[in-house]
Amino acid sequence: MTYCHNVGIAYFCLPNNIMKDQLSKDIDESRQGESLVLPIENNSAQTKKMFIESYGCAMNFADSEIVASILINEGFSTTSNIDEADLIFVNTCAIRDNAEQRVRQRLTEYNKVKKKNPDLIIGVLGCMAERLKSQLMEEEKLVDMVVGPDAYRDLPNLISIAEDGRKAINVILSKEETYADISPVRLGGNGITAFVSITRGCDNMCSFCVVPFTRGRERSRDPETIINEVVGLYENGYREVTLLGQNVDSYFYSGGGLKKEIYSEEELNSAVSFSQLLEMVALASPNMRIRFSTSHPKDMLDSVLEIMARYPNICNYIHLPVQSGSSELLEKMNRGYTREWYMERILAIRRIIPGCGISSDIITGFCSETEEQHQDTLSLMEFAEFDFSYMYKYSERPKTLAERKYKDDISEDMKSRRLTEIIHLQGRLSTESNKKDIGKTVRVLVEGFSKRSEDFVSGRCSENKMVVFPKENYKPGDLVDVLIHDCTQATLLGKAISLAAGH
Ligand code: SAH
Ligand code: SF4
Ligand code: F3S
Repeated sequence: MTYCHNVGIAYFCLPNNIMKDQLSKDIDESRQGESLVLPIENNSAQTKKMFIESYGCAMNFADSEIVASILINEGFSTTSNIDEADLIFVNTCAIRDNAEQRVRQRLTEYNKVKKKNPDLIIGVLGCMAERLKSQLMEEEKLVDMVVGPDAYRDLPNLISIAEDGRKAINVILSKEETYADISPVRLGGNGITAFVSITRGCDNMCSFCVVPFTRGRERSRDPETIINEVVGLYENGYREVTLLGQNVDSYFYSGGGLKKEIYSEEELNSAVSFSQLLEMVALASPNMRIRFSTSHPKDMLDSVLEIMARYPNICNYIHLPVQSGSSELLEKMNRGYTREWYMERILAIRRIIPGCGISSDIITGFCSETEEQHQDTLSLMEFAEFDFSYMYKYSERPKTLAERKYKDDISEDMKSRRLTEIIHLQGRLSTESNKKDIGKTVRVLVEGFSKRSEDFVSGRCSENKMVVFPKENYKPGDLVDVLIHDCTQATLLGKAISLAAGH
């Protein structure tokens, strides 16, 4: 998922072209035009004001809430008005080249604001920090601060350095930092759904992916702090959490820090795995809806599926990115599974959680991809019947194994043609999947008004499909049983039957 949000602005935008080439994937209807849950504002004239804009995945979005929390504790306040900002932070994404281009464009725009207000400090946070630190600061002179994803506790110090006119950089990646003790300030959301990070970094080293370089080694957060955060969110009116990690299935907490090769029996007995964490959260907050993302096909165990099936408050939905349908290409991608393994995981989901929603990520035009391998991706999509997918052209990233070892040899035209075929197929699969829901009753958590009309509300069903229905007296936070009578490719349309008593 890709978001951009500005603190204090009541809508989300899709800033980079990650989503542009999707066929009307309505990822976040409910988040648009929402009423705001503003951070604890501290708007006296003396306080310094920050404006934060976030790009990239949900984890970056969650990180911006940690940044806001750290700085509000230091007496800063937030603003949605760039002209009154003392600090502008851009929380950046490096996943594809076009994500980076978009951020550079924004930095150039912010520099025009700086011309009017020379005291303004512009900071780059997040995944572009490590890679572009000296370039952005010294060569292009676009920014005053560069702060990597593990250095946010150092922000108050870095801000004073920048205020003194010195270069403020901290891009050190940590092996322990999880910000476990920091309660994120919820920014610009709907007050109903929230993200909760459970791991940071990634150890998987998929050959196309820059994340292990930008975010460092994988670490799991103390389960107690996760549970406290979820329980606290429920007390504050939130009704759904999404537990976040690059590979949630590899969550493993044994007292902090990196995973070890060898554990003592005692350590193993007290360690917490992802399925155990999921169960702990489901039990600790039985009326909270629980989702998680992202599942990794190589690590997703039946035990996770069984916990999902057992607890009604865990949603029947799995985001299980396949990337490619060809075993040869999957090996080249270093994904750690084959086409057959992935198919077996899909069958396991269908067996253990009948009707479970399944979505995917797909990369087309990876190094040396043949026409036959492209056809393998299409046929695997047909097999899996994905409800929706995020679909991308391969974009070569610096430092990755693919950049060092393989040639980015599929032409832009070929990538575009294959992507169009994938998008069209996904469009058909999404429509077919939605049509099957006509006549069914689904349970929807209302997140807000429909973006098209205030007479309608919208929210998701357990399977993560967006559902729109006439508002009547329903309000955000209500769980409503809705009879589906129509659909588009991206949305189910229905009529409320009644408020649901529970999950
Ligand atoms: N951790 C998640 C994915 C995080 S990145 C997982 O392993 O599934 C989100 C998606 O971006 C990936 O699933 C992949 O489809 C896409 N992606 C990552 N690197 C890319 C690249 N170099 N070019 C194109 N798409 C890429
Ligand atoms: Fe990247 Fe692979 Fe890690 Fe996902 S699992 S973040 S694709 S390296
Ligand atoms: Fe997320 Fe982009 Fe970083 S997808 S982890 S913000 S590179």
